Amino acid sequence: MPTPALDYERFAADADSSAVQSVKGWTWPNERRFNTWFTRHAFEGSGDVVDLGCMSGSSTIALADGLSRNARAQGRKVHAYDQFIKSWDAIPGEPLEQVPTGSDFYDVFLANTAPWREWIVPHRERISDDTAWTGGEIELLVVDLMKSFPTTGTVVTCFYAALAAGRSHVVHQDFIFYGTPWIHLLHHRLRHRFDPVFEIPDSCSYVFRLADRPTADELEAAVDFSGITPDEIEAAFDYCQGLVTKNSAAPLKAAKAMAYYHAAQLYRHRKAAPLGFQGWMERARAALAAIDESLRPHRDYVRAAKEIAQATLQAMEEGIRRPMGRPTRRNDRGAPGG
Ligand SMILES: C[S@@+](CC[C@H](N)C(=O)[O-])C[C@H]1O[C@@H](n2cnc3c(N)ncnc32)[C@H](O)[C@@H]1O
Repeated sequence: MPTPALDYERFAADADSSAVQSVKGWTWPNERRFNTWFTRHAFEGSGDVVDLGCMSGSSTIALADGLSRNARAQGRKVHAYDQFIKSWDAIPGEPLEQVPTGSDFYDVFLANTAPWREWIVPHRERISDDTAWTGGEIELLVVDLMKSFPTTGTVVTCFYAALAAGRSHVVHQDFIFYGTPWIHLLHHRLRHRFDPVFEIPDSCSYVFRLADRPTADELEAAVDFSGITPDEIEAAFDYCQGLVTKNSAAPLKAAKAMAYYHAAQLYRHRKAAPLGFQGWMERARAALAAIDESLRPHRDYVRAAKEIAQATLQAMEEGIRRPMGRPTRRNDRGAPGG
């Protein structure tokens, strides 16, 4: 029997749980509401829930709270992954402000999630080439650690491979965010496999439902970013921009500029590149310049403009004689996102 269409707008209908909403984390109130609503009302119990990049546990708690109230959950768990090492410089007011950079914050996660412990399986590991998902079907995959091209490859080959057609959903917490353009390139490549189903209002998240299971070869090809072209970037961002109607257009427009910027890094030493380093960077600056003045005060525009300006300056200073550092290290190191 075909699965009935879900009314995702109902995510806001339940009364808020103050226990879920009060935990300090990097998720918006509506993202927590959506996670709880989904695991409570939409989750069928056909697979597990995987929370990638759980940090202090705000996403995990929301997911576990819904599961704990769903009779169909039947022993299903939230598998919460994080390296639990603070890899970013402290930001005033951030959820882990008291944790020094380089320190372990697993105890914060354990303390925050203690009331939901029986619903959670923590995985304390760095997602990398060695990562393997040894469980079965994943019914809900929440992604908040896809901060680089290589991590995207691992997430897709390990975790997307366990999604079930017609049932599984993926929530991308960094979709409406300037700093992770590989997500947009990826979901444009997989657009015939995933249905774009819901933009969570007042948040950075977008929800996809797997319609048609890709083969392992297709997943491998989807994360081979060695052949990106300007045409692909334009098409990917036209597609993704068309999905975002409830939140500001600024993050996606800034993400397009960042896609050009990251392509410049990827192709830096390749002779057969479609554009030279300066050509990609010119595209990055042109994409920024095309953003409407009214969107420029947005945090994501400001951050993209700063990173692209710094990279341009650095390249000028180096005369492009030697490889640049990786100016978006903050993202590669895993924090903060949308
Ligand atoms: C933006 S935070 C996630 C916020 C979290 N979902 C919440 O509810 O507040 C990103 C997290 O991803 C983790 N992370 C980033 N890259 C990772 C990797 N390759 N392996 C494991 N954890 C990673 C970081 O340690 C960080 O805690």
